Amino acid sequence: MASIRNIVILTGAGISAESGVATFRGPDGLWEGHRVEDVCTPEAIARDPGLVHQFYDMRRAKLGEVQPNPAHHALAKLDAEWRGELLIVTQNVDDLHERAGARRTLHMHGELLSALCARCGARRPWREAMPPGQACGACGMEALRPDIVFFGEVPYRMDEIEVALAQADLFVSIGTSGAVYPAAGFVQLANHYGAQTLELNLEPSEGSHWFDESRMGPAGVLVPAWVDEVLAG
Ligand code: OAD
Repeated sequence: MASIRNIVILTGAGISAESGVATFRGPDGLWEGHRVEDVCTPEAIARDPGLVHQFYDMRRAKLGEVQPNPAHHALAKLDAEWRGELLIVTQNVDDLHERAGARRTLHMHGELLSALCARCGARRPWREAMPPGQACGACGMEALRPDIVFFGEVPYRMDEIEVALAQADLFVSIGTSGAVYPAAGFVQLANHYGAQTLELNLEPSEGSHWFDESRMGPAGVLVPAWVDEVLAG
C-alpha cells in the first residue's frame, strides 16, 4: 500500500444493491418484461418516449426511498481522508455516493437528477417526473430527456477517465458485472498502464480473470474493510 498514491474506483449497480436499488442483470433486472437494453436506447425514446420517460421517472422516484449504505459511506470516508489522487467513476445514475459525502465522483452514464436538452445540450437539475415534450429553459425546444447515456451513446468524460487510469497505481472495481463496455475494459487499460487491480463483487464478474485480486462478498462488508486497509497504509 505504501507505494499507492493514485486510485481510480469504478462502481456499478452492485454497490447500491444493499440500499434497495435494483441491479440490471440480477433476478430483479427486468422492468415490466423489458430488458434494460431495450428501453435505454435512442431508438426506444424516439419510438415510445412515454415508456422510456416512465422507466426513468420510476427510478428517479425510487431515490427518495433509499439511503446510502456502508459501502457508499466508506468510499466517502476514503475521499475525505485520502491525500493522493482519487477518482470514483460510477456507472450508477443514482446520487448515493454524493449523499454519503463523496466529492471526487464522475457519473459516466449520467444522472437521474439531471435533465438534458436533446437539441442544444443544456443541462439542468431535475427532481420530478419528466413527461415527454418538456421545454428546454435554454433553447425553448420541447426536447428535454433524462440525462442518461443510452446504449449506443458515448459515456461522459471518457478523456478524463482515461487520463486518470493512465496515472493510477491502483484500480478497484466494485459491484459491476463487467458486461457493459467501455467500463468493462477499464481493468485492461489499468493493467496496461501498470496499475494494481482489485475487484470487490458478490460473484466473479465477466472480466474477473483480468484482476490481480478478487474478493467476493457484499459491498457493504468488503468496501469498508478495504477502505480501512488502504487508510491504514
Ligand atoms: P449489473 O446489474 O450488470 O451488475 C451488478 C453486479 O453487482 C453483479 O456482478 C452482481 O453480482 C453484483 N452485486 C449484486 N449485489 C451486490 C452486493 N450487495 N455487493 C457487491 N456486488 C453485488 O450492473 P452494472 O455492472 O452496474 O447502463 O451494469 C452496467 C450498466 O449496464 C449500467 O450502468 C447500466 C446498465 O445497462 C446504463 O444504463 C447506460
